Amino acid sequence: MKKTTALAHANIALVKYWGKRDSRLNLPAVGSLSMTLKALSTTTSVEFQEGLSIDTLSINGSDAGEKQTRRASAFLDLIRKDAGIQHGAIIESVNNFPTGAGLASSASGFAALTVAAANAAGLDLSPTRLSELSRQGSGSAARSIFGGFVEMKLGEKADGSDSIAVPLHPAEHWPLAMLILITSEAEKPIGSTEGMNLTAETSPYYPAWVDTSPDDIAIAREAIVARDIEKLGEISEFSCFKMHGLAMSANPAIIYWNGLSVTLIHEVRRLRAQGIPAYVTMDAGPQVKVLTLPEYVEKLTGLLSEIKGIRQIISTELGGDARILPE
Ligand code: PMV
Repeated sequence: MKKTTALAHANIALVKYWGKRDSRLNLPAVGSLSMTLKALSTTTSVEFQEGLSIDTLSINGSDAGEKQTRRASAFLDLIRKDAGIQHGAIIESVNNFPTGAGLASSASGFAALTVAAANAAGLDLSPTRLSELSRQGSGSAARSIFGGFVEMKLGEKADGSDSIAVPLHPAEHWPLAMLILITSEAEKPIGSTEGMNLTAETSPYYPAWVDTSPDDIAIAREAIVARDIEKLGEISEFSCFKMHGLAMSANPAIIYWNGLSVTLIHEVRRLRAQGIPAYVTMDAGPQVKVLTLPEYVEKLTGLLSEIKGIRQIISTELGGDARILPE
């Protein structure tokens, strides 16, 4: 069987996904809306080999360890089932950014794995089917199949076939920029699945979170059509802080921020008050992402890099679809 290599970009949700309505199929409790990021990507190669009874996974050149390998293997079982094969696979995955620190490595990781594994198994699948499969690896990965602005549909079918991402606009529709401020490279204390489940079980705010999500998505969609940075920035911050407030209202509280994250949140808001279009978003980790327009990237990078403790600033524009790379 042939070896296939695929690349997928990470994505950052502007309207967040937090909560599952079905754990087995990994169906989200809310829809979400994201932008795909050009500068952050995972490149993954997959080769199914006859006679191989297990899968091996390396990430950034080192053996991935049991937990991650088991997760990738369980995912490859879906591909093997579709393709009617039973061979084990050799998976080699490389991220061009820190892994596991709330930088959406599972999104680009599972999207790249889906595209590479499906092709290596001889399947010719539509982007929609690839997105549906990716979702079962990681909810946010369903969005990384597509470039530009992407919406993850909540769906309503029990089999999950309509819980898929759809491309809204390609990257060229609206050149936006995002700065990613790395405040720590430590692994996050609680993973997103565990965090979501604890939140759904214990937070009294959870029903309100689920109920108010469709409105946020509708507003973000309109803002993107109109290329209205203020409207998109405001709804993004609202969704982000609603998600983090929700996580903090779990019992025990889930707090992804560190002290520097808080400092940066205030700093971005201070700069905005001075007229710079800059809006914060954060995921299941302490990194602060700043949505802005390309013409402000240089100025913002200069101002923010004066703050002590930031390890790295990654600047990115919107990226394209997940794709197979030539061997
Ligand atoms: O798909 P997961 O399990 O990586 O969850 C992603 C959750 C957030 O990044 C916090 C929000 C989102 O919509 O990407």
